[in-house]
Amino acid sequence: MKSPRPNNSSKITTQIHHKFSLLIGILTRADNYERRHFLRLIYGIQSSPLAKIDVKFIVCNLTKPEQRMLVALEILRYDDIIVLNCTENMNEGKTYTYFSSLPNILKNRYDYVMKVDDDVFIRLEPLASSLEPLPRLDLYYGFVIPCNSKNPFVEYMSGMGFLLSWDLVEWISESSIPKLDLFGPEDRLVGKWLRMGNKAQNRFSNKPAMYDYPGTNGKCSHDLIPETIAVHRLKKWDQWLHVLEFFNVTKQLNKSSLYHL
Ligand SMILES: *[C@@H]1O[C@H](CO)[C@@H](O)[C@H](O)[C@H]1NC(C)=O
Ligand SMILES: *[C@@H]1O[C@H](CO)[C@@H](O)[C@H](O)[C@H]1NC(C)=O
Ligand SMILES: *[C@@H]1O[C@H](CO)[C@@H](O)[C@H](O)[C@H]1NC(C)=O
Ligand SMILES: *[C@@H]1O[C@H](CO)[C@@H](O)[C@H](O)[C@H]1NC(C)=O
Repeated sequence: MKSPRPNNSSKITTQIHHKFSLLIGILTRADNYERRHFLRLIYGIQSSPLAKIDVKFIVCNLTKPEQRMLVALEILRYDDIIVLNCTENMNEGKTYTYFSSLPNILKNRYDYVMKVDDDVFIRLEPLASSLEPLPRLDLYYGFVIPCNSKNPFVEYMSGMGFLLSWDLVEWISESSIPKLDLFGPEDRLVGKWLRMGNKAQNRFSNKPAMYDYPGTNGKCSHDLIPETIAVHRLKKWDQWLHVLEFFNVTKQLNKSSLYHL
């Protein structure tokens, strides 16, 4: 739902929208080689004419010799991995390290930066279409928690996949508010920092287009729907198959005498 705050609509109509840029950072662990292989396929066949979208995998410090070799090979082949200076451990600052490092390590800024889990399927075309009319500044976009909340200001965007405009990424890297408040569930913390900093006046919670896989998480779940942007909690192959079939992902493959699927 669009935020009810009145200042939004004027900003939207007065902005001239060029093709925008988006970095999607998938937070994953170095050891998840097969998941990365699969997600490269999933995102490698998608694009949107509205946006330049880069998908990168975000991992913390490599800790084993084989990781250093295999991840180096992946980087040589795909150049889609960012190794942050952090230790893998839930709720100990990886999301903060991700956002706060970007202004220092990227050569070019993006209009938007997204943080995504590695058990999410995102459809890039409807994602880009949903962002196109939104403000490029002071924007916090995602799936608002609690599940039944329809107000993007109550309370924070789910870690399944949320997006910040670049000015907010810079704010996170510079402000002392996040630095002093790094321990706890990270996605909730992001919402708290923004509230404390009086940031993210533009908010957009994209229900029902974002949700948890049917039956996996109470009111955050519902059936697959055609206008989907993101489905979360895809842990098992049968769930991925269901989703990819529902969205006709492989229908673009033409018949050929080279293979019989
Ligand atoms: C990485 O993080 C550690 C601990 O926070 C810090 O001591 C170190 O200086 C950092 N290293 C680099 C290269 O930024
Ligand atoms: C990550 O690795 C770098 C380089 O080996 C090291 O300087 C840093 O302290 C490590 N950071 C953490 C948080 O373990
Ligand atoms: C998938 O394809 C079928 C058959 O062409 C169509 O009826 C259905 O609407 C498509 N599903 C989606 C989500 O686009
Ligand atoms: C499938 O065939 C159509 C029509 O001949 C063609 O336009 C399209 O590029 C083909 N798709 C692939 C993935 O080869």
